[in-house]
Amino acid sequence: MSTFGQRTGTASGKVILLGEHAVVYGVPALAVGIDRGARATSTPLAAGPSRLRVRGWEVEVTEEDASNDLGRAFAALLVAVRAHTHKIAPAQVLVEAETDLPPGGGLGCSAAIGVAVARAIVGDPSPEQLTAFVSAWEKVFHGNPSGVDAAVCARGGCVAFERREGMAHIEPVAVKGGLTLCVGNSGIASSTKSMVESVARLAERRPEVVRKAWEGIRALVRNARFAIEDGDRFSLGRLMDLNQMLLSGLFLSTPEIEAMCESARGASALGAKLTGAGGGGSVVALVNGLSGAERVLAAWRKEGFTGFATRVAVSGDVQLARAAGGST
Ligand code: PMV
Repeated sequence: MSTFGQRTGTASGKVILLGEHAVVYGVPALAVGIDRGARATSTPLAAGPSRLRVRGWEVEVTEEDASNDLGRAFAALLVAVRAHTHKIAPAQVLVEAETDLPPGGGLGCSAAIGVAVARAIVGDPSPEQLTAFVSAWEKVFHGNPSGVDAAVCARGGCVAFERREGMAHIEPVAVKGGLTLCVGNSGIASSTKSMVESVARLAERRPEVVRKAWEGIRALVRNARFAIEDGDRFSLGRLMDLNQMLLSGLFLSTPEIEAMCESARGASALGAKLTGAGGGGSVVALVNGLSGAERVLAAWRKEGFTGFATRVAVSGDVQLARAAGGST
């Protein structure tokens, strides 16, 4: 008989404030956990195979489902869990997950579900174990991810993340005075894998252009960290605008993203940029409190874009007010 009972795990979604793409090439990135995310519950099964159901997406896979990414990711995570010499999870499980993050929206949807699923299966994995389990899961969706999504979804708060010689270096960053953000949906789902590949192709054709962009982003990230620690939101906003210019120069922006950034700035946002992979997905705007957030959200609504206001969250502090529909 299994000694394991039913367990629940949660994870926050994430927003990259500065440094996406550059982080894949060893430049630090700054990211925050948000108060939307994922929750999962696991129940031991008497017989296999293990199953994963995502509520709201109407999807159910088993660990033997090699025909789709979700099934392969679930299998990879279970292989990583079972590789532990100590028995840390039931042999077979039914996991039910839900999320209020849009898939393909640059908000760490896949990483948040992966972290919540791993926590539901294992209970209280160490940070190293969690990283191993969720990297196995994330590799299926994103090829060779930097790991920033999983690190932030697992920890929440504000994090400086850097990948050096294949190793993740994570430092919590103290946020003076809090941060209010608006996150807007450009209406176009984007694939992180294909956007990362498009940057790699550009780096082959124009290595100097891409190298200079990374140097610029490195300087912006360094200054942004000081601005966050000093509570200097005006400088932080300006640095986000400059990061957006450099990302546009790498063909990662779209007309919708540009329109959303412009309208957020026109509605008193301190700065605005794409967040995540670009090519669609989400935009993040730094705003002055909830009244600033209302102005930006109203401006987006007028142009037909949806969005929400959020504050920096600690992982586990996820209410999951509104489950988002969609599929992987
Ligand atoms: O689209 P997202 O939220 O998965 O963000 C990806 C961030 C990138 O820097 C573009 C890729 C990575 O692996 O870090």
